[in-house]
Parts: sequence; C-alpha cells; structure tokens
Amino acid sequence: MCGIVGYIGTKNCIPILIEGLKRLEYRGYDSAGIGVIKNGLCRVIKQKGKVVELENEVEKQNTSSTFGIAHTRWATHGVPNQINAHPHTDTEEKLFLVHNGIIENYTVLKKRLELDSYEFYSETDTEILVKLIESFLNKGNVLCKAVQYALNEVKGTYGIAVGYTDEPDKLIVAKKGSPLVIGIGDGENFIASDVNALIAHTSRVVYLEDGEMAEVYRDRFEAKTIEDEEIQKEIQEVTLALDEISKGDYDHFMLKEIMEQPLSVKNSFRGRLLFEEGSSKLGGLQGYEERIARSKRILICACGTSWHAALVGEYMIEQFAGIPTEVEYASEFRYRNPIVTPDDTCIFISQSGETADTLAAMKEAKRRGALVLGICNVVGSSIARESEAGVYIHAGPEIGVASTKAFTSQLVVLALITILIARRRQLSLIDGQEIIRELDLIPAKIEQILELNDEIKAIANEFTGAKNFLYLGRGYNFPVALEGALKLKEISYIHAEGYPAAEMKHGPIALIDDNMPSVFITPQDSVYDKVVSNIEEIKARSGKIIAIANMDDEKIGSLVEYTIRIPETIRMLMPILTSIPLQLLAYHIAVKKGLNVDQPRNLAKSVTVE
Ligand code: M6R
Repeated sequence: MCGIVGYIGTKNCIPILIEGLKRLEYRGYDSAGIGVIKNGLCRVIKQKGKVVELENEVEKQNTSSTFGIAHTRWATHGVPNQINAHPHTDTEEKLFLVHNGIIENYTVLKKRLELDSYEFYSETDTEILVKLIESFLNKGNVLCKAVQYALNEVKGTYGIAVGYTDEPDKLIVAKKGSPLVIGIGDGENFIASDVNALIAHTSRVVYLEDGEMAEVYRDRFEAKTIEDEEIQKEIQEVTLALDEISKGDYDHFMLKEIMEQPLSVKNSFRGRLLFEEGSSKLGGLQGYEERIARSKRILICACGTSWHAALVGEYMIEQFAGIPTEVEYASEFRYRNPIVTPDDTCIFISQSGETADTLAAMKEAKRRGALVLGICNVVGSSIARESEAGVYIHAGPEIGVASTKAFTSQLVVLALITILIARRRQLSLIDGQEIIRELDLIPAKIEQILELNDEIKAIANEFTGAKNFLYLGRGYNFPVALEGALKLKEISYIHAEGYPAAEMKHGPIALIDDNMPSVFITPQDSVYDKVVSNIEEIKARSGKIIAIANMDDEKIGSLVEYTIRIPETIRMLMPILTSIPLQLLAYHIAVKKGLNVDQPRNLAKSVTVE
C-alpha cells in the first residue's frame, strides 16, 4: 500500500530513490513520483504506471539533487494518474509530501481549507494534508511545528515524508498506522516504508512507532512525538542481505519464492525441534507456554492467505491440544463486539506484519485483556512489535504479491505452537516425537514436489482458457482448497472458488460441465473414500479433474484426467505439501496468459488501509 523512500546527504539522490522505489514497488505500482530540492527550488516529477516509467522521465529531465523523497502509489482516493501521484505540493510549490495511508476526515478538512481560499488540483486525501501543513506555515510556524499541528488534526493513518525549500537542511517523517523507518548512514540518512529500500546503503535503522516523528538531517536525526515531546530511539541492526530481495536467475519473484520452500520451511523450524521431548522450543513464547496451554479458547485472526493458514491451525490445535479454537477475519473481528476474555489467547498471523485490519484487531483483543500473540514474517513490523509475545516464521523476504513461502512457513509455526501446547495437555510423548520427526522430513518432500514443475506446467497449459475453477478438499485440505483458489484468481484473473469437497453437492455442482475444471486435493487420509465419491459426482457431469494425490494411490489415476502425485506425511502437515502444486499451477497458468504474476492488477503486497 504505497512505498516511500527519501534521502538527505551529499550524493545525488536520484539513483538512490529510483532503486529504493523499485525495491518497494510490491507495495503499490499504479503511479510513482519523485520530489527534490534543486538550487533552492522544489522539483517534482510524477508518472502514471510503474517505477520504470518514472525512471525514464527522470532521465529525460536530467536532474540531480542531494535531497529528495519519492513514492510508489496504490490508489485509495482518486484514480491512478499523474495528477494524483505523489509527491503533492503546497500552493507555492515550496512544500512537498509523500504519504502512505488514508486521511479519513479529509472532506471536513478540505471544506475548512476551501473557506480559507486554498485550492486543490487533485482528488487525493494527501493533498489536503499538504495544504493543511501549508496553512500552519502561513501562520508563521516552522516546518516541524506546522507538521505537528496538522497531524494533530488528522484522523486516519499515515506514514509521511515532507520536504520544504525554506528549510532544506532537514526532511520530516511521521508515522501512525503505516510503517516508517529511518536508515542511518555516514554523513547521510535515508527514510523508507520498509528496510528493503535501505539495505543497499545501511544496516542501521530506527523504527518509528505510532504518534512519533523525526527531523532527519544529513548527519543526525531528532525524534519526538507529534505532541512535541522529545524521545530517544534505539538504533537497530538489520541482517537482511541484498540477494534475499533480488530475483536472481528466476523470471519472477513468485517462482523464486515457491522454489525456496525447502529452505524457507527449514528456516521456520531450525533450532526449534525437540526430538527427544517430542515438543518444540519457541524463544518468542518463552514464559507464556503455560498460560497459552491453559487458555479456555484460542482465537486466530488474519486476512487472505494468512487467514487460510489460520484455518489449518484451527484443525491442528483442536485435534492435538483439545482447546476450542476459532478463526476470524481480522476485518470482521474489529467491527463487531467480539467476546474476548483474559482467559483467551488471540493469535494474529500476518506475513507483512503491517496489515491494517489485523493490526487493529490485535489492538482490540489487547484492550479486552486477552493474551495477544503474533506470527509474522517481517522482523520489526508493526504487528510483531504490538504483540505481547510471538513467533517469527523466518521465511525470508516475500516480494511476489501472491503469498507462497510465507503460507507454508506459517503452517510450520502453527504446527510448532500446536505441539508446544498439546504436549502440556494431552499429546503423548510418542505422538509428539512422530510429529517432530515428520516435520524434519518435510523439506526433502518439498524438493520432490518441486521436481514436478515441468509436469505441472504442462497441465497448466491445458487450462489457460478456463473461465472458472473449483478447488475442493476436506479436513486439513479444505483451507488448502481456499488457498489454491485464491492463488489462481489473484494472479491469473480466472474466477476460482474453494469449497469443502462434500459441500459441492449443496450448490456449486450446478456449475459443473466440461468447461468447469475442478482441482481435488485428495491425499489418502481418513476422508479419502468420501472425496473419491465427490470426484465421481463431478465425473458424472463431464467435469474435468486435476487431482493432487499420494504417490501410491492406485485408484485415482483411472478416475481423473490429470494426477499430480506428491509424497505422504501425517495429516496435520499435509497442507504444507498439497499447497505447493497449487502454487505452481496458478503460477504457470498466469505466466502462459502473459500476466504480471509478481504485481497483479489492483493488488498490493502490504494492505495498510482498511
Ligand atoms: O501480510 P499479511 O499476511 O497480513 O497479508 C494478508 C493478505 O493481504 C495476503 O495474504 C493476501 O491475501 C495475499 N495477496 C495472498 O496471496
């Protein structure tokens, strides 16, 4: 949801800003812009479309500067066009600002500013914020004060960076609800929405918290609250390496991330398996184990793919730990009156750790006294910092907008949490040891599945003309069906729905004909025979079927048109394996259709607005 990057120092900032925007492009990619101070004047260049369009334009205009801010946009207010792109400027074009978030009370503020004769050129909420700051500058305030006064009137969320030609020695940043990080250099400083944009230049960073701001100079920064109280911020070291956020030899980040799963999954359980005790060790939950195990109820909240992982977690926790578990969309949780008590443990899952709905739901659960845990990928993200305790999935940076390796790593962490609780309740040593042994074998089994890439590609090529797809699975594999359908629709724009396989006969079966393919996830588990009956029902109506089945399933081949055979594991871990062919299937269908799989239309990686 919009990426921000900025520089103040002695070097030409243009290549630094463009490179930074490219690394943030997964956050939004409908338009981009750059604002610099050159010879005491503000110069803004904006372009509709991807960062590369902006890069071409900036090259044509041949500008350079040692001070600049830049933005890649995911439109909220106003269509994606050049005028609505950021930075936005004040009336005299001395003040320029980039913004990630939403100004909720912008109509009220706009009316007030219009009464004071301020004029507006764009449809954005961000322009209102610039003009509001301008109105305080016009009352004789210095930039920092004007920003503070403005932000104290704003309702909504923001991560902002501001430049001002009258005070060219500093840029100002502030944060509420949208991430903002300062990168500390040597005689130069950087700001960005996330560390990806900074690590080529520095590993020393300062994360701003909500309600905080900073005046960033070339050689220092001064942090304070927006109420003007001085604060001390800790400088942290980030360990991210540049090659972790590069595509390498792969055509797409999504394929790279799918192929990385043997390693990413291993990283999720590395050092956390206790083979002898048949349990797990999770440093981030140390001291909380007993409280979690005593919970009367576990509630898991998330969005999108993370919500699908949560559903698998529900099956795991109820089966092995015997604690009633509920899964809820974070966006729904926050706007009803949820029954949450101090006896509950609420787990919030988020790859980015920045999803606005999940963060807000977490704060609500905290207010109601529950133990609040986070499962995040991005280290230092808002949800990770807001949680009382939690577990990082350590999948490594996920850049492709469609989540893949984060999903399988979330499942690993949910299994580790399950076993941690279950061994304190009802799970026997023998059963615990079996789960741990099976987890350890998963990366090798993923390797085997990835060897099927060409085979899956060939199947995908048969289905690029499909307009609709059904994904069907039962038990642990019902959430995998939902996830498979989500992967297909978000990158191939083919309408796809996931259902519990048996539910299909209660309605969706009406859709089945030879133009409506179905994907069945049908490992040989306790519901295998029932799923086979559902397959027969589809076959009887001429539906084409792709089955994800076990290697030694002799029956399935004669029933369906296409079979993707994968290794076996215990039921609770099966979704880690069954989801991978579905990722590859969606990927190859989208590539064959010539679509941009890493940056699908209308989507952004990190959804920091409601
Ligand atoms: O970063 P999060 O896990 O909180 O993101 C949640 C969803 O926005 C995300 O999973 C989204 O559905 C992905 N595009 C799925 O591939």
